[in-house]
This record gives sequence, structure tokens and C-alpha cells, in this order.
Amino acid sequence: MTVNTPLCFRGKSILAPMVRVGTLPMRLLALDYGADIVYCEELIDIKMLQCKRVVNEVLETVDFVAPNERVVFRTCERERHCVVFQMGSADAERALAVAKLVESDVAGIDINMGCPKEYSTKGGMGAALLSDPDKIESILTTLVKGICKPVTCKIRILPSVEDTVNLVKRIEKTGIAAIAVHGRKKEERPQHPVHCDVIKAISEAVSIPVIANGGSHDFIREYMDIETFQKATAASSVMIARAAMWNPSIFRKEGLFPLRKVMQDYIKYAVRYDNHYTNTKYCLCQMLREQLETTQGKKLHAAQSTQEICEVFEMADFYEETTTIFTAKKTSLETKIQDEDDQMEDPDVIKMAVRFDKREYPPQITPKMYLLEWCRKEKHPQPIYETVQRPLDRLFCSVVTVAEQKYKSTLCIDYRSSF
Ligand SMILES: Cc1cc2nc3c(=O)[nH]c(=O)nc-3n(C[C@H](O)[C@H](O)[C@H](O)COP(=O)(O)O)c2cc1C
Repeated sequence: MTVNTPLCFRGKSILAPMVRVGTLPMRLLALDYGADIVYCEELIDIKMLQCKRVVNEVLETVDFVAPNERVVFRTCERERHCVVFQMGSADAERALAVAKLVESDVAGIDINMGCPKEYSTKGGMGAALLSDPDKIESILTTLVKGICKPVTCKIRILPSVEDTVNLVKRIEKTGIAAIAVHGRKKEERPQHPVHCDVIKAISEAVSIPVIANGGSHDFIREYMDIETFQKATAASSVMIARAAMWNPSIFRKEGLFPLRKVMQDYIKYAVRYDNHYTNTKYCLCQMLREQLETTQGKKLHAAQSTQEICEVFEMADFYEETTTIFTAKKTSLETKIQDEDDQMEDPDVIKMAVRFDKREYPPQITPKMYLLEWCRKEKHPQPIYETVQRPLDRLFCSVVTVAEQKYKSTLCIDYRSSF
């Protein structure tokens, strides 16, 4: 795909949005195997608005990080031109604010209008939007006008074909680039047959690309079936969820890879992108399915870290090599930052290697309290702290002014859990 060309939604195989499954390793793997477009898991607007955008120099990713330092959305250059950011929202202005936050790092923005789960619908999001076309219109129009990237939405079908077609026609008028249709009603479960005829009626009634979804169980067991589903629905493209979750090599023209290879490929990305081990484990368990009771399945279930997961799949060496590279990269970046700091040296600041080790203090007592107490006793004004977070490594450094003298520790504080 040519860089900077707006996403085209015709003739494409697409990885569907899937909570917990559609994180970076799965998206990259689907792309490697042949998917053209990948949707991220649904992320809720309110949660995203609390995040800050951080460039992670060690992993070479862009991270959207919550106040508790958890990475909510991680992306990288490889997928920038084909990842669609799916959002859960029931509010046009909030949706726009999130879209602007991520716009430069993704290829498109999608609004989830199909999730039937209570946690989504009770906030007016997901499938609840289907009964509020005015709100749909307001969210989509605001997004289309407010951002430069293509906007899509993903719906379920309504109880009648006519109502569904009318809703999609109204949605088309908002100017969105494509619509994904999960061919089930909101009360229907994944094992119910998918209504290809309804998707077909929609495809024939509108001119924007329709992306058919819902075929994993009944239709799509191997690559060739993707085309069969596309033909049955007369849709422009096909979006796959469960079949890709079970084995993402469903996107391979040449046929499925054995699960063991797929799982090892997945783990490589999980380690390479420092994916949280609980998420890695969850996705691998979805792939193992009925093999969860095997020795390997039981070992995977018991794993409590990425390293332990790697050991289960005989990838301990890979883990070792990759993390060694990261550690070296982190150290070299820190040295570079230290050198830059040294060059911008303020001669008035006294620098000392002061470390804060909780264990050296009584419970609930901090160095700040000692210093405050000392200033009171010595009749000095109370200490003034200036704290900055260095943009490159996100470490926190403070300069404290005590008795008209500035002090700084050469050791900064790292609040991050890993890389
Ligand atoms: C584990 C899982 C998580 C899902 N999460 C989302 C989601 O975040 N957003 C969404 O629009 N649909 C979500 N779905 C629904 C799928 O995108 C898709 O509509 C549905 O599974 C039907 O497609 P399929 O037959 O290919 O599985 C999820 C489905 C699964 C199995």
C-alpha cells in the first residue's frame, strides 16, 4: 500500500475489532499473514481522554498511557497506514477529542455501534446507538468534519431488513468512508446463523463500501472461504473476528499455518513489543482452545510472566536475546540523556546522588517530611520543589530549593513498570 494514500475499503480482508485480542501483536501478525486492514480492540472514549501520547524510544512505538502508567493503546510505524482505531462513544465531542488525539498515528477511526454487552449499552454506547439515529448522525458528522482520516462505523442488523437499510442510508449521508455490518441482531449470539441476505440487501442499497462480518462460524474456516462469504453478501470487503482469533493465518492465501508456528510468531511480537503477559496469555489460550487441557495448555495457564510463557514454547533464548537488546538500548538512551543534561548544567545547582529507598524510612515518613521539619527547626522558608518529566525517557527529576540553595539528585525516578 502506498504511504499517505487514504485507506480504501474495497476488496480487502480485515481483522475485526476484538477486545483483548486486537492488541499490537495480533494486529502485526494478521498483517504479516495477509490482512490488508486491522482494527484495534474497542477503546472507550473516556479512558482514552485520560491518556497521554508518549513516544517510546526503546520499543519504537507510540504509546497512549493512562495516569496509572498502563499502556492503553500501543501502535507502531508498520501499521500506521492500515490500522483503524475503534472507539466506544456516545458523545460527539468526546469522540472528536479522542480522534484528534490518535489521528496522526492511525489510518482511520471507527465507532462501535454493535456491542450488545451491558457495560457498553448502559452508557448509551455500542448497540444502544442503533436505536438513536440522531446521535449516530451527530457523532459521525462531527468526526467526518473534524478529522482528516477516514471514518467508519460497525453496526449490527435491526429486527427488519427495511429498517436496517434505511438506517444505513442515513448513515451513508454523514460522509463516512465505509460501514462494517455484523449480520446478526443485537440479541443473537455468535453461534446463531449470520444473515447474509440482510448484508446483501444493504450492499445493494448503498454506494459506500460495505464490509461483511459475522461469517467465522458458518463460513470462514480457511482463506478461500473469505471470498465465498464476500460473494454471499455482495459486500466490498470481509471482516474476520473469531476465525482470526483462533488462527490469524486465516489471512494467508497459501493456507493455514500449523498452530504451533502461529503461536511462536505471536510470541515473538509479544516479546518484541513488551506486550503485557496477561494479554499474551489470553490470546494464546484463545488459539489453543480445546488443547488447553494438554500439558502445554496447563503450563501456559500456569505461566506468570512473559519469560515463563516463552519457556512453555521453547523460546527462552529468544526472550533472553530480545530483552538484552532492550536493556542495552535503554541504557544507551539514558546515557545520552544524562550527557545532554550535563551539557545544560546549571552551575547554581548542587548535584548529589541521593536515592530514595522506602525501606530506609519509617512507615508513612518521606524525605520531604524530614526536610520540611528541618527547615522549620532552622527557621528557613519551606522547601520549593520543581519537578519535570523528561520527554525522552519519561523519568521524573526535581530541583529543590532549601535555604536559598538549589539541590538536585543525579538519580531520576522511573515510575514505569518495564520498558
Ligand atoms: C473476543 C471478541 C472480542 C470482540 N470485541 C469487539 C470489539 O471490541 N468491537 C466490536 O465492534 N466487536 C467486537 N467483537 C465482535 C466481532 O468484531 C465480530 O463482530 C463478531 O465476532 C462476528 O464476527 P466473526 O463471525 O468473524 O467472529 C468481538 C468478538 C470477539 C470474539
